[in-house]
Amino acid sequence: MIDTPRAGQYEVVPADSPLAAPADAAPRPVRTREYLMCPPEHFAVEYAINPWMHPEQPVDAELAVKQWDGLRETLTRLGHPVHVLDPQSSLPDMVYAANGAFVVDGTVYGARFRYQQRRAEAGYHRAWYLANGWTDFHIPEHTNEGEGDFAYLPAVPGVGGVVLAGYGFRTAIAAHAEAQEALARPVVSLHLTDPRFYHLDTALASIDDSTIAYYPGAFSAASQRVLRQLFPDALLADEADALAFGLNLVSDNRHVVLNSTATGMVAKLAARGYEPVPVELTELHRGGGSVKCCIAELRR
Ligand code: ARG
Repeated sequence: MIDTPRAGQYEVVPADSPLAAPADAAPRPVRTREYLMCPPEHFAVEYAINPWMHPEQPVDAELAVKQWDGLRETLTRLGHPVHVLDPQSSLPDMVYAANGAFVVDGTVYGARFRYQQRRAEAGYHRAWYLANGWTDFHIPEHTNEGEGDFAYLPAVPGVGGVVLAGYGFRTAIAAHAEAQEALARPVVSLHLTDPRFYHLDTALASIDDSTIAYYPGAFSAASQRVLRQLFPDALLADEADALAFGLNLVSDNRHVVLNSTATGMVAKLAARGYEPVPVELTELHRGGGSVKCCIAELRR
């Protein structure tokens, strides 16, 4: 047994650790995902609702579209169908499609955005789900920003499906109870305390059915303890990993698609036997997001 790493400590996985992938390990099986994305045709940084956004700094709109295309093509090449939501000219943050809803086993828990600038996005997401046969749609009463603040682990040992939910900046804690009633899965509330990591998906990611990666420093001391108790084998990211948006990733159980500047996370994932797939998303970084923010997962 190895010691559970302490919060904030840089994780090193020694070759003889039970967490390290054996050199001759068979490739991890791929679980085919289904995704929803929205092209950044109207992407711009026109207001600041998180510390990453600087409206005075120009965004290269053409490059944003090119990089987004690259992300979509990467997912398709890995075998995952990507559905596309029509962008709206009045909604420059609509490219961050993760915020539009949270879907577990065919049930959709809709979003209700915190800031007025994004509020209309929820209706476009809802219309997309209803037009595409997702009839079990819950309109929320409480503020929540979809998969930005909710993560799902389908098979936590001894428990089954578990929802992890963030609050502190965007999603109201009342939405956690509402999501639990809508989705009929236990919801674990986690308190985000660092404004740079204002959505759960900037600080925590599920990397397979029962494993998470996270940056402890983004959470309150009590929430760090909850995470250590539930996920003793988690991959711990450090501040540099999190600042490079290295936790804002999607995983198909084998491939982990993540921001190319997150080189530390690339190494840590590879040491655990995952195949990192880095993509360049510099322009979307300027809005305060990366890979995961651009992708909503559709769990049938
Ligand atoms: N500018 C957007 C906002 O502040 C970025 C959203 C990022 N999305 C995410 N899932 N973290 O709302």
